[in-house]
Amino acid sequence: MRKKIVAANWKMNMTQAESAAFVKSLLLDLGDITDIEVVIVPPFTAIAKVMEALGPSQNIKLGAQNMHWEQNGAFTGEISAALLRDLFVRYVVLGHSERRTLFGETDEIVNRKVRAAHEAMLRPIVCIGETLEQRDKGNVEKILSIQLRGSLAGLSEKELHETVIAYEPVWAIGTGRNATPEQAQEAHAFIRHTLAKISDETTAERVRIQYGGSVKPDNAHELMSQPDIDGALVGGASLDPRSFAQIVKAAREEEL
Ligand code: 13P
Repeated sequence: MRKKIVAANWKMNMTQAESAAFVKSLLLDLGDITDIEVVIVPPFTAIAKVMEALGPSQNIKLGAQNMHWEQNGAFTGEISAALLRDLFVRYVVLGHSERRTLFGETDEIVNRKVRAAHEAMLRPIVCIGETLEQRDKGNVEKILSIQLRGSLAGLSEKELHETVIAYEPVWAIGTGRNATPEQAQEAHAFIRHTLAKISDETTAERVRIQYGGSVKPDNAHELMSQPDIDGALVGGASLDPRSFAQIVKAAREEEL
């Protein structure tokens, strides 16, 4: 059984004060939830504040939104895996479509980062997804296959198992137009099938694949009930602790 993983990608939002207030509210709402893995992915500037606000709670983990592939050195403005580890970060989102389209990240760059993350014992959440134009041309599988093979090249089975994939169709991000559960399941099944080809069936069955793109409290349960959807990577709806808590609870088998 794959444990569901629901992550809050705050993107370039949330001050330290807002982050602390969010965590306080989320902890009250979720209690000591253990059946779902919950990850908060703040901007770099709020990571330490979120850690402090989480206190002894071990159930909610920290993530980062990006990192550089080098360990340290003269890379002004960059953050390394070692620096993230220093802040007790466990996950790092890599290859988000905003990084790919706005900051020119290629599969090769994403791959360097993914390998550097594993070397530092950070778990990457690797984002892939097609644009609307690519979908309309019937190229979804081709694009997903290229992005997966490129981003995950050279990983061992153990590293692959410890990687989370996030399927985020670009046309669904921040648009209010989520993929239907059927569209998402179809893409997730294809991703798992491709992972089996990259490694083997057993490893592919163990890899968790999140869906991202306009996930909201009212569509979260149906999306995450699909057999190959193992959680969500939430943007806009993760800025409000109430709606994020509802999405976490929606990851359970039974709707509450
Ligand atoms: P939205 O939930 O705002 O569509 O963003 C999705 C996303 O990009 C999460 O990484």
